[in-house]
Amino acid sequence: MGPRFQNDDRVRLYREMYEQHGPIAPVVLPGDVPCWLVLGYRELHRITSDSALFSRDSGLWNQWPNIPADWPLLPMVGKQPSILYTVGERHHRRSALVSDALAAVDPFELRDRSERFADQLIDRLCGRGSADLIADYAKELPALVLAQLYGFSDQAGAELVPGINALVDGGPDALRGRDRVQAAMSGLLTSRREAPAAGVASRMLHHDYSSDFSFQEILEDMMVNFVAGHQPTADWIGNSLRLMLTDDRFAASLSGGRHSVAEAMNEVLWEDTPSQNIAGRWATRDTQLAGRHIAAGDLLMLSFAAANADPQVRPDRTSFTGGNSAFLSFGHGDHRCPYPAQDIAEGIARTGIEVLLDRLPDVELAVSAHALVWRSSPFLRGLASLPVRFTPTPTSAAGVYR
Ligand code: HEM
Repeated sequence: MGPRFQNDDRVRLYREMYEQHGPIAPVVLPGDVPCWLVLGYRELHRITSDSALFSRDSGLWNQWPNIPADWPLLPMVGKQPSILYTVGERHHRRSALVSDALAAVDPFELRDRSERFADQLIDRLCGRGSADLIADYAKELPALVLAQLYGFSDQAGAELVPGINALVDGGPDALRGRDRVQAAMSGLLTSRREAPAAGVASRMLHHDYSSDFSFQEILEDMMVNFVAGHQPTADWIGNSLRLMLTDDRFAASLSGGRHSVAEAMNEVLWEDTPSQNIAGRWATRDTQLAGRHIAAGDLLMLSFAAANADPQVRPDRTSFTGGNSAFLSFGHGDHRCPYPAQDIAEGIARTGIEVLLDRLPDVELAVSAHALVWRSSPFLRGLASLPVRFTPTPTSAAGVYR
């Protein structure tokens, strides 16, 4: 949680922990609650591959008697009735339901919708000559596109954006934001239950496995899809734009140079992944791993960021810009980010960045690279703001650009 974690020294910090403690480090969470932080690539891969030994069921946690009702990490670790904490055969069916509903999203339609919303957002700011690409762009686009894919109208989707951002920002409006999004999601599902239509919500309700799950469980998974989909995709856009605007290898590509948007996005998933750390897995019995004795019910926090930079896997820290996708940023194993969800995130982020660079070709940082501030979360990594300037340009024809 210290200042080194918040700035660009973070990877060195993970490496120092690795050198001092090995691939699995003993750490404490707020309130001196003990857990293991998994820093090693191989160990993280092993843990996420073995869901019988390392379960996603947080009910197994041996620390529950020490956790107060107002513990700040409860939203990250607590038991929720969603796909995230479901295990075994029930999880397989639930995962198939979610994946199938997302897999039916047509990639051309996804690109088309992402372009249309990107153009509308740029229309709002292009005459100004300056913008904050986080608040004005990255934190809007994924929610607008996802809402549309789920079955909301454009208007209803736009109304969800402040609520979901309040929820993920975790400030004083977080619970109000969650309630607003949940009420809208519940309304959409109710109407689709009665009248099936296009969209993810309807497909989740009318799947072969739907009868295995209650309305409330499907609602929970729609919330996971929306919340777990919006913020990391927003951070992927923001972190990739930061790289392109601050690194000479990419700066040239703003005017058609050497390194592409896809390469920047790939490098971000290695070096600056939105998914830094996640809780986690719980040991189902006593075991040994990397020389550590892990007791039944111990919590293992997964550090995707540390594993991606594991000195055993990347001794010289060579950059993997060239399209190597062996990063662990989407997780691994049964509970990894569903493949169609990864494709959706990629489609939104890539289109969003390409349209922005197309519409604002001379966009540049309005502050020095060192003045950029990261949000303080140890879980998701993203910028608090990304101030830029550019030559003011006219709006596209009513958001229909190209
Ligand atoms: C850059 C964007 C994204 C990143 C980095 C990301 C990362 C992750 C990670 C690391 C997990 C695994 C959690 C674990 O192992 O316990 C996960 C799970 C999940 N993600 Fe994503 N995700 C992204 C976008 C999305 C999108 C766009 C959606 C939906 C449209 C989505 C839906 C889900 C769901 C439903 C799960 C739970 C899977 C399960 O527990 O079976 N994600 N994501």
